[in-house]
Amino acid sequence: MMAVPRNFVDYEGIYLLSHSIGLPVRGTQEAVADYFKVWESDTPHAWPQWLGAIDHFRETLGQLIGGPPASICPQSNVSSALSKTLGALRQSFDNPTILLTEEAFPSLGYVCEHAGYEVRYIGADLDATDPAVWRSALTSDVDIVLITHVHSNTGEQVDVADIAGIARRQGVISIVDVAQSVGVLPVDVDAWDIDVVVGSCVKWLSGGPGGGWMWVRPDLIERCTPVDVGWFSHDDPFEFDIHDFRYAGDALRFWGGTPTVLPFVIARHSIDAIRRIGVDAIRRHNLAMVDQLVDALGDRVLSPARPERRSGTCIIRAGDGDIEILSRKGIAVDQRRGAIRASPHIHTSENDIEILVAALLARR
Ligand SMILES: Cc1ncc(COP(=O)(O)O)c(C=O)c1O
Repeated sequence: MMAVPRNFVDYEGIYLLSHSIGLPVRGTQEAVADYFKVWESDTPHAWPQWLGAIDHFRETLGQLIGGPPASICPQSNVSSALSKTLGALRQSFDNPTILLTEEAFPSLGYVCEHAGYEVRYIGADLDATDPAVWRSALTSDVDIVLITHVHSNTGEQVDVADIAGIARRQGVISIVDVAQSVGVLPVDVDAWDIDVVVGSCVKWLSGGPGGGWMWVRPDLIERCTPVDVGWFSHDDPFEFDIHDFRYAGDALRFWGGTPTVLPFVIARHSIDAIRRIGVDAIRRHNLAMVDQLVDALGDRVLSPARPERRSGTCIIRAGDGDIEILSRKGIAVDQRRGAIRASPHIHTSENDIEILVAALLARR
């Protein structure tokens, strides 16, 4: 039996909610305390150090997703990253049209509906894991496609490289939302040949809320003219000439006004921890834990059987009152559309899964 790594804070009970909030990694409190120490002891010089922390975040995230840090811009969340991307590209098209699935996270649908685009949906009744579905939806009038790498309600993973490839051949810009995958599945911007990646650190990366981000393909940045800007989007934020705005040459043109720093200090610390454990190791362990659930629960597992189609989350058909029983036993899962969502991370043990299975089977 594999020993549970000690990289995470202790949790009393069984924690299976990494699709919602990742358990903090050890050392997070110390990272926050260090941030405060700079502020408390060297207030006049805090900014250079805080901006250094943002650079550090960009470098660390760049190492995780395989792209140059200059292509990364901090954001508050995935929705703001998408909103800025769509605003920045709208002028490129006559009748801007965006394609996404009805299974995309609703917040992103809200952004699309308010961005001045015609919004086209792939219906929830169609199989979004089938590239043929995307091929026929990517008609010649589509300008941008929004791909959700992992759908948290169905536990499905789509083949991003495949869909981005279809989009590229048709001259369509591809954006991928990795909120539910980064940290548990490989995210590789080069291998995907993608245009924009929008993500956050709050789930499998255990980085807490507020550490959102966007990655923009280097040769696309020049074409982007963000509309919601601020002095930190300026090529020289300290120029202070109200009549002379020039976009930053890199992805920071998407930044805005005075930025938040603390969420990125926390997120940098947690991404470092995840990188040291290794996303491949986390994924291998996750698949083994889900195999254990499939073996024990059979067709109560509704998420895909094929590992390459599985996300990190196992979707389990729930009986009446299951969720309350699990909660009483200290098993942290949640429920959507009548099904339980259970997300085994590297800190989940075989014994944890046995306890979950026993609790579910005892009620049959
Ligand atoms: C696929 C996906 N995208 C995005 C989000 C969150 O978006 P935001 O960071 O804008 O709140 C979630 C939240 O659960 C999600 O599941």
